[in-house]
Amino acid sequence: MTIREEIERRRTFAVISHPDAGKTTLTEKLLLFGGAIHVAGAVKSNKIKKTATSDWMEIEKQRGISVATSVMGFDYGDHKINILDTPGHQDFAEDTFRTLTAVDSVIVVVDVAKGVETQTRRLMEVCRMRNTPVMIFVNKMDREGKDPFDILDELEEELQIAVRPLSWPIDMGERFRGVYNLYQKSLDLYQPSKQVVTKSVHLDLESSDLEKHIGDKLSKKLRDDVELITEVYPEFQQEAYLAGELAPVFFGSALNNFGVKELLDCFVEIAPSPRPVQTEERTVDPNEEAFSGFVFKIHANMDPNHRSCIAFVKVCSGKFERNVNYKHVRFNRMMKFSSPTAFMAQKKEILDEAYAGDIVGLPDNGNFKIGDTLTSGEDLHFKGLPSFSPEMFKYIENADPMKSKQLQRGVEQLMDEGVAQLFVNQFNGRKIIGTVGQLQFEVIQYRLLHEYGAQCRWEPINLYKACWIDSNDALQLADFKKRKFQYMAHDKEGRDVFLAESNYILMMAQQDFKNIRFHFNSEF
Ligand code: G4P
Repeated sequence: MTIREEIERRRTFAVISHPDAGKTTLTEKLLLFGGAIHVAGAVKSNKIKKTATSDWMEIEKQRGISVATSVMGFDYGDHKINILDTPGHQDFAEDTFRTLTAVDSVIVVVDVAKGVETQTRRLMEVCRMRNTPVMIFVNKMDREGKDPFDILDELEEELQIAVRPLSWPIDMGERFRGVYNLYQKSLDLYQPSKQVVTKSVHLDLESSDLEKHIGDKLSKKLRDDVELITEVYPEFQQEAYLAGELAPVFFGSALNNFGVKELLDCFVEIAPSPRPVQTEERTVDPNEEAFSGFVFKIHANMDPNHRSCIAFVKVCSGKFERNVNYKHVRFNRMMKFSSPTAFMAQKKEILDEAYAGDIVGLPDNGNFKIGDTLTSGEDLHFKGLPSFSPEMFKYIENADPMKSKQLQRGVEQLMDEGVAQLFVNQFNGRKIIGTVGQLQFEVIQYRLLHEYGAQCRWEPINLYKACWIDSNDALQLADFKKRKFQYMAHDKEGRDVFLAESNYILMMAQQDFKNIRFHFNSEF
């Protein structure tokens, strides 16, 4: 197979949802179809617990396991599929955001009873920023839920994307009979069964056979519904989907293995192979011969006796090979890797080569930080790895004056790993750590102590958001920074950040300083 063919057959995506909507269950069914696992439950048992826990052994155990399920690669027909796991727990959201920068498309899972929930909304914002193609799976049709038309309205409104159903449910809950697949014109009848792949009947909607399968009343309703869909929703167009403007919607029940194969078959057909990626220098095409890739995730081992990390590299162009010299652009140094790992479903194995779209795990002892680039030689800096405003902030103080160096080093490394964000107040030099969840403060404190021998103490600070600011009006910018001097900070890269105490203060600032732009992520 040529490099181009290898790359064309790759589909690298993430499943995103609010906790409990069915992401794990759906992922597991996708793996079952790919033959990557053979029994249901294999992924499930590895799942990160949803309850916040302060049992460190438990967290450590889960972190260990989550490496194995971070990326799940398998072959499906002619395609190579890479599913990137997006940690579902609130407290892991920062990591989740970054994972989305390494995928070429996403599948959003929504619970039919609950509709669009907060976490999904937040993750979709990132997808919209990057015009990531989105497919939606409305799950748990075997339970009572919202009317499908209402769900479509909600999806459009809440996720701010046009939708187009490609399958349509026939009733729901205990009366759920199946779906009509509008894409393939087939009737898929529902059999509640957790392992068996459902059979479908090719059937035109006008055929009188429909009545034989689902009766008069449901047949009429289905025909009416489909007529309405055709009138109200745009024709499905692959270009609009690929541009991130239109999301095809499927209905089913992941737990009952219903509607999943239809989703997967349509997915491999229409979802994009690796897409061109922007760097500061130029656009990199995946089919270029020269290898390039970037680090989007660093997974540290929490065991102090094994301080190694794994850096996750997304291959953006060409072919990566074992034991070949590549340039670590930030270090301006050539490096080669003797034991890169591939992620094939649940096991890790040494890989000899990987292609654009694949994820490579590189064992690391502190050489990498998030956003680092590796290339065949060219100086490239990938864009699209922004930091987002944290939601919780605390001052970090040194609790052991004898260990201030250790603390500084520890904080620096943990920030490079992307565990949280550091802001330094420009006025008094105090350090502020921003996270997306309470648990991260505990993780940082624990890791500083166990890995660096440093002790820290948290002190409260009341902040609402961190905004990266810029302006073409140098005078106004200087005036703003002077007036808000107590609330100005530098991020890790030395960029100006305004720490707003409340939404009201932020709104007032936006009103009073019209020539200043306030950004909620670092890449504007
Ligand atoms: P998550 O990864 O998005 O957090 O969700 P997960 O797959 O763990 O699913 C959450 C719960 O919803 C699980 O139940 C799961 O069995 C259930 N579920 C998933 N898909 C369906 C579906 O199509 N229909 C129905 N009725 N339920 C579904 P749980 O009670 O939390 O776990 P378990 O006891 O079943 O393991």
